[in-house]
Amino acid sequence: MAEWIQVAEESDIVEGEAFPTEINGTAIALYRFEGGLFAIGDICTHEHVRLSDGWLDGDRIECPLHQSCFEIRTGKCVEGGPAWQDVDHFAVKVEEGSVFVAPSA
Ligand code: FES
Repeated sequence: MAEWIQVAEESDIVEGEAFPTEINGTAIALYRFEGGLFAIGDICTHEHVRLSDGWLDGDRIECPLHQSCFEIRTGKCVEGGPAWQDVDHFAVKVEEGSVFVAPSA
């Protein structure tokens, strides 16, 4: 059974903006998209840079360094730059206005 870690208040996560944080020393970012909350790994799989410093376009975050794109709902590497490996995605739940992430992808 997953151990849930509180990472934010629900109101902290705004559509169109990344919410970078970490769980157990792992950099992640949370996103709100079409009513859902999603959490994915925040380090690009090409070089060590935070994806949340890049550009958010709909359901994609674009790496600020070489423009690889990752789906914010799944972590899937979709197109663009030299990265080809997906980032992890994490289960998210909301309880009484607090947002929790399960650390195992
Ligand atoms: S560091 Fe992200 S695509 Fe190169």
